[in-house]
Amino acid sequence: MRSETDQKPTRRSFLDLLLGVSVVAWLGSVLYPVFRYLKPLPQSGPVGPTRLTATELTKLEKDGFVIVPFSGKRVLVVQNAAHQLLALDAKCTHEGCTVQYLAGESVIWCACHNARFDLDGRVLSGPPPRPLPRYTAERQEDGGVVIVGERTSA
Ligand code: FES
Repeated sequence: MRSETDQKPTRRSFLDLLLGVSVVAWLGSVLYPVFRYLKPLPQSGPVGPTRLTATELTKLEKDGFVIVPFSGKRVLVVQNAAHQLLALDAKCTHEGCTVQYLAGESVIWCACHNARFDLDGRVLSGPPPRPLPRYTAERQEDGGVVIVGERTSA
């Protein structure tokens, strides 16, 4: 039979508890970032026709391109030298890096593996297996730009 002194917390049991809590906290700090990394990103950005904000329009005019959220994707909107609007998926078809527009060369460039696409999204060089999907972007009478949707054919 146990005496009353055996049931009292001892220094040893306190240290065991402290060690257990520390191990659980350490596991949480290691596993939580892994879980966050593996969890799919939520759909972001508006769905359906999307009008560029004033800030996005300013960037488009200044840099010749802007990347905007659209239906859970990122769309690269380009204004070429002839002031035509082009819109393409900003996600490289190789490994998913974000592409950018090189105005000086009039190409779309993926920095990850130095791939180049023409302004219709066709692969010019590099490892991407497919062209960039295209979207329809239209200029409105008031100067605004609206992304209407994905093009179904080239
Ligand atoms: S991810 Fe774009 S070329 Fe590899």
